[in-house]
Amino acid sequence: MIGIDIGGTGMKGGIVDLRTGNLVSERFRIPTPQPATPQAIAQVARQIVDELQSRDLAPEPHSAIGVDFPAVVKNGVVFSAANVDPTWINTNLEQLISDALDSRAVYGINDADAAGLAEATYGQGRDKMGLIAVITLGTGIGSALINNGVLVPNTELGHLEIDGHDAESRASARAREVHELSWKKYASKRLRRYFQHVEALFSPDLFIIGGGISKNPEKFMPYFEDEIRTPMVMATLRNNAGIVGAALWAGGMLPERQRRGEA
Ligand code: BGC
Repeated sequence: MIGIDIGGTGMKGGIVDLRTGNLVSERFRIPTPQPATPQAIAQVARQIVDELQSRDLAPEPHSAIGVDFPAVVKNGVVFSAANVDPTWINTNLEQLISDALDSRAVYGINDADAAGLAEATYGQGRDKMGLIAVITLGTGIGSALINNGVLVPNTELGHLEIDGHDAESRASARAREVHELSWKKYASKRLRRYFQHVEALFSPDLFIIGGGISKNPEKFMPYFEDEIRTPMVMATLRNNAGIVGAALWAGGMLPERQRRGEA
């Protein structure tokens, strides 16, 4: 099954073995076109699929494809554009990519939902019941809530209003850089406040932290983990979580009702 992860700087595709959650061969990456308009993205998606499809272990040429995107994706349609080109709003992501792929079936999903689903299925959440909250800290803050294996899509917890601010403008990894905060200050003030707030709202059983900074937990975890009661672990799928989650979303292993928001 093919999954494509659309990010602000790169578009990455891979062929995923859904039994294991592993890529069957190297992923393929092309820089995100700038400006990242729907048409430009669709053309790059085509190039990625053509390349993957030319490989030895390529999936069936007409099998479905999963695509993730860093915004609200509801029934295939993009509803927000916090960190993407504003022309995406109201674009039907599934139709757009499908048209570029000779009408192949396409399933669209929010990027953090894809990464979270992958992590809950194959990574740190594997075989764990209860409510898992996956929080990705990067350019923005992405979130995925998975309850007993079922995703509640588009939770957008990066845009919670905390102390009068859009949360991701204070607590994302980019906010740390923009505001030139030390790791200690960032973690002990901003991450603590953010995670305490999410914890108070949802009382999850497990927090999984994803995004680039989860590679170096020693830089921030010591400054706030004792203040959070919920166990916190780092994501393990890293760079491929979006590809794997998008493929999982498209792969027929989830009930159609869940993809269509009916379960
Ligand atoms: C967007 C989310 C996205 C997150 C991480 C936020 O700004 O609103 O949809 O999941 O960034 O990319």
